[in-house]
Amino acid sequence: MIAAPAPLAARAALQPGAFHAQAHAAAQAAPFLRFDGVAIRLGGREILSPTSFGVARGEFVCIVGPSGCGKTTLLRAASGLVTASAGEVRRNGVKMTEPSREVAFVFQDYGRALLPWRTVEGNVSLALEAAGVPASERAPRIADVLGKVGLARHAHKFPVQLSGGMQQRAQIARCLAQKPELMMMDEPFGALDALTRQSLQDELARLVREDGLTVLFVTHDLEEAIYLGDRVIALQANPGPGRPSLARMIDVKIPRPRDQLSTKEHPEYLHLRRELFAFIEQGHD
Ligand SMILES: Nc1ncnc2c1ncn2[C@@H]1O[C@H](COP(=O)(O)OP(=O)(O)OP(=O)(O)O)[C@@H](O)[C@H]1O
Ligand SMILES: [Mg+2]
Repeated sequence: MIAAPAPLAARAALQPGAFHAQAHAAAQAAPFLRFDGVAIRLGGREILSPTSFGVARGEFVCIVGPSGCGKTTLLRAASGLVTASAGEVRRNGVKMTEPSREVAFVFQDYGRALLPWRTVEGNVSLALEAAGVPASERAPRIADVLGKVGLARHAHKFPVQLSGGMQQRAQIARCLAQKPELMMMDEPFGALDALTRQSLQDELARLVREDGLTVLFVTHDLEEAIYLGDRVIALQANPGPGRPSLARMIDVKIPRPRDQLSTKEHPEYLHLRRELFAFIEQGHD
């Protein structure tokens, strides 16, 4: 059951978001990222059952689903960190077989993602050092990304001196410094308090727009998925023989820029929220 149900399709025809219509058409025609029948076996067990979908350049795709259904594994496959046992993942038409600097990965556990003995700027510098950027070019690039995430005044602090939200900003800055085409985010805001989470959601949406990034974003929070995504993909655990892990795909045709108040009162937001919750409650989560 991959396609959106009829009522959604009907609403899509009534209210086509300009960007989304283009992005979705592009994703179908020549997607930037393409999962084609991707199955993954680990430890003798099928973690991801054959799953196909495309992601257009500049699209923000959120992935939800129950714990253990393979969300992190899907991100790892999309990053070239794990190899498909069947099917293939293509980025820009090229089969992905190994990690690339054009793909950045933001982890939930920011405490462990940052090196504690390096300052914020030292942690961001890491991405540039790994990419072989000469020392003379690093300082302006570090200042640029720290400015973007609001950490300019904290460049010389160590991770332990930062709040959780600031540590996560530092990790995002490190990924942006890498100038990725594609950003994988694995429950990046899951450990943050509600207010910090909301402000980081809005900052991320702005950064993604400014840099034209393509994002795959895993979350357990269905509202976060609808708020941030151009599309939400729901995975299911143990789909059964011959069935894909991908259980549902929902287009989010809510105008951008979005904001925490008016977007969450938008009729489409409320409708999708109800639809996704009902779907998950039917036993898919
Ligand atoms: N390297 C591995 N070897 C064996 N099994 C693995 C490996 N990596 C993951 N798994 C198993 O694959 C399943 C899916 O793992 P994955 O981390 O992708 O789930 P998830 O949807 O991200 O879960 P969560 O929401 O809890 O983060 C789990 O049962 C996990 O134990
Ligand atoms: Mg996970």
